[in-house]
Parts: sequence; C-alpha cells; structure tokens
Amino acid sequence: MRKSLFLVGTLTAALAVGACNGADDRAAPGTDPATAPAAGSPGAPGAPAAAPVDPRLAAALPPGVTAQMVTEGQQLYATVCVACHGAAGTGTQLGPSLNDQNWIHISGEYDEIVNITATGVARPREYPAPMPPRGGGNFTDEQVRSIAAYVFSLSHRG
Ligand code: HEC
Repeated sequence: MRKSLFLVGTLTAALAVGACNGADDRAAPGTDPATAPAAGSPGAPGAPAAAPVDPRLAAALPPGVTAQMVTEGQQLYATVCVACHGAAGTGTQLGPSLNDQNWIHISGEYDEIVNITATGVARPREYPAPMPPRGGGNFTDEQVRSIAAYVFSLSHRG
C-alpha cells in the first residue's frame, strides 16, 4: 500500500519532470537560497515562491496538500512537536520517529496523521507519557493540516 503510493509518486514525478524540461525545477536543488524567509510569520499571505520542494515529494503529496503547507507545517512543527519527536522527526525518548515507514498507531496515510495530531495519544503503547491533543499547541484545524503535511513529507521523500 505505502509502497505503491510511493511508486505512483515517483512515476508521476518522473513524468512531471519529463514534461517540463527547462522549467525552474532544475535550478533549485543544491542552491538552497536563504532557507527560511518567513520564519516569524507562518501566516504570511501570498508569500511568493515558497522554499523549493523536491519534485518527487510534490508529486507524492495527497490531493489538497500543497508544498506551501509543508513549508508552513515545518515551522509549526518546530514550535511544539520537535520536543518529543525530534528535529525532522527522528524521534526522542518521549516520542517515536515520524520519518520512516514504522508506525505504531497508523499506517502513515495523510488523513490518519491529521487525526492523530489533532487528538493526540492518550494511551501510548511504547513511550512513557501521553501525547496531548495538538501536541499541546494552540493550533487551528488548518494549522494541524499543515503540520500533518510536513509530517507526511518526512516519510515520503523518496
Ligand atoms: C509530549 C510529547 C509529544 C508531543 C509534544 C507530541 N507528540 Fe506525537 N506522540 C507522542 C507519543 C508518546 C506518541 C505515541 C507513542 C506510543 O504509542 O508509544 C505520539 C504519536 C504521534 C504520532 C503517531 C506515530 C505512530 O507511530 O503511530 C504522530 C503522527 C504524532 N505523534 C505527531 C505529532 C505532532 C504532529 C505533534 C505536534 C503537533 C506531536 N506529535 C507532538 C508524544 C508527543
């Protein structure tokens, strides 16, 4: 299931890259220009050209999930979730890794990540203490969806 999603994403990305030869996709990787211009303003509307996103990741995102949500979610993740799940979802003694295919409660689908982020985990199975709803953060539903987009991206980078 997850494998096939990944394959579809890879294929789509290959097609997308092939279909637009010479597009700016190719200028971005490696250059990494000023990575976090919007660090202090997660809501900044209409901020042009978000940070470059791997085309394979962009193709693997579920319907309704945008690269901009991933970027915004990354900033929000760093305010709360990072304390237990670590930088880039590597995990800590307080919370499991989120950057691989090993899940405790879910199968890694985007909607599942949205739900468990919103509700938390009252009864952890492997870690010592519960995860509070929204990780204890004061996030709107929209922000939860962005955070989930970032979490999804951690295990779907190809
Ligand atoms: C206080 C520590 C803590 C914080 C803060 C926290 N979590 Fe968790 N998270 C946990 C624990 C504990 C579990 C469940 C582990 C278990 O069952 O043993 C969990 C589980 C999860 C899971 C399911 C993992 C799986 O393998 O099934 C996701 C997804 C998740 N957290 C995302 C988030 C996000 C996103 C945030 C920030 C909004 C967040 N968490 C904040 C501790 C935390």
